[in-house]
Amino acid sequence: MTAAFALPDDGVLAQAIAAWLPGQRWFSAKNHPIAAVAIVNRVPLVRESGLAADHLIIDVSFRGADELRFQLPLGFRPVPAEEFAEHALGVPDGVVAYDALRDSQILARYLSALSAADEIGSLRFGMPDSVEIDSDAHGRVLSAEQSNTTVVFGDNLLLKFFRQVSPGINPDVELHRALSEVGCAHVAPLRGWMEADVAGTATTLAMAQEFIANSSDGWRLALTSVRDLLSEADLHASEVGTDFAGESERLGAAVAHVHADLATALGSAEQPLASTVIDTLHRNLEVASSVVPELAEHRDAVLAVYEEAAKSGPTMVQRIHGDLHLGQVLRAPDHWLLIDFEGEPLKPVAARRLPDSPLRDVAGMLRSFDYAGHQPLGDGLPGDAQRKYRAQEWVSRNGSAFCDGYTAVTGRDPREQSALLRAYELDKAVYEVAYEARHRPTWVHIPLRAIARLVVD
Ligand SMILES: Nc1ncnc2c1ncn2[C@@H]1O[C@H](COP(=O)(O)OP(=O)(O)O)[C@@H](O)[C@H]1O
Ligand SMILES: [Mg+2]
Repeated sequence: MTAAFALPDDGVLAQAIAAWLPGQRWFSAKNHPIAAVAIVNRVPLVRESGLAADHLIIDVSFRGADELRFQLPLGFRPVPAEEFAEHALGVPDGVVAYDALRDSQILARYLSALSAADEIGSLRFGMPDSVEIDSDAHGRVLSAEQSNTTVVFGDNLLLKFFRQVSPGINPDVELHRALSEVGCAHVAPLRGWMEADVAGTATTLAMAQEFIANSSDGWRLALTSVRDLLSEADLHASEVGTDFAGESERLGAAVAHVHADLATALGSAEQPLASTVIDTLHRNLEVASSVVPELAEHRDAVLAVYEEAAKSGPTMVQRIHGDLHLGQVLRAPDHWLLIDFEGEPLKPVAARRLPDSPLRDVAGMLRSFDYAGHQPLGDGLPGDAQRKYRAQEWVSRNGSAFCDGYTAVTGRDPREQSALLRAYELDKAVYEVAYEARHRPTWVHIPLRAIARLVVD
């Protein structure tokens, strides 16, 4: 395919990309200066008279950090196009280059390939048996962009382009496929995928699933409940119209069903704790303590909880969500769904795919309730004891309701394994302290106070 106008060559493009990447919301390595961008794969997607598009895979090397691989679909136009100006790269020589996922004409090319389970150059598209996709639906980027870029076609198909890509199958596709196969009711069904052989290894690039219209994310719903409570400081959490405890209980049940389905689909096993899980917790604490000196005063108390947890003997491990919080759950009109099974984005994929205790997910949700309760209080300065009391009441009430819902499904109360659950909560809070210290220093008090509470409970 040749374009009707001259496209920038790889060298020019690589330079423009290096300058453009740090401004992208999904670019995970904003803190490291880019040393070089190498284009490892460039597949022509569209060649029309006034429009061209290429699908790029790039390797980005850094000064002082490991190389990372990203996927970058780019559109090109011979004349400036106002609507793409915000997403344009600074390419010289009269051509406009921009993020192709913002262009519905280019998105249509991906959709037609997906609906036909086709190939475009080295890009391969696939669908589960019996799925049919409407190839005419109009595509647009979902505004809630986070670590990846999610496109919605029509009103029932979502296509999520993984921005940072790693060799092998992406856990999001792997776990959605496994859960769809056992008929799990608490995930959006898998509708397809895009992959390519990159440097010799099959690599997932995108995942299609059902788009659940009229759903709200759990974080937003929870915050509404907390704000209402805080504005009515003389009411208890149970007395406020937006009390969240019923939702938290149903959410606990949904998470328990997903855990059970993951174990059915992909197995579970008993594993000794000390050599694996606890070692990781220790390592995480050492790393975080080297970044945040305030952690030092809690170090011995945290280690004591880890020691207690290590005594709990072998524990059941299985595939889990791995990055569960209120922003990763959707309230569909009549039930809760879990989304985004990629695991913790900053971990290598091999580590994210390791079995772990389901308690890690439970702890993730409990930490998220803690954030939802305390974040609306603001800067954490002393004062306003009444509002703080109410916030803590909301956190406890919803954490308990979540665990009740979980227990009702599994028959095992996660709170009974209290030392291990607390160890996972602490591990998460330690990670949060390091994260906040780096990115949002005015919030560091939220996980620090949680650590102080968790070690004395
Ligand atoms: N199946 C779905 N139906 C409706 N909205 C969804 C669906 N999956 C994700 N979303 C929306 O897209 C946002 C980002 O999705 P997510 O999978 O968490 O992407 P990321 O990997 O970028 O974090 C979510 O917060 C949610 O609002
Ligand atoms: Mg997410």
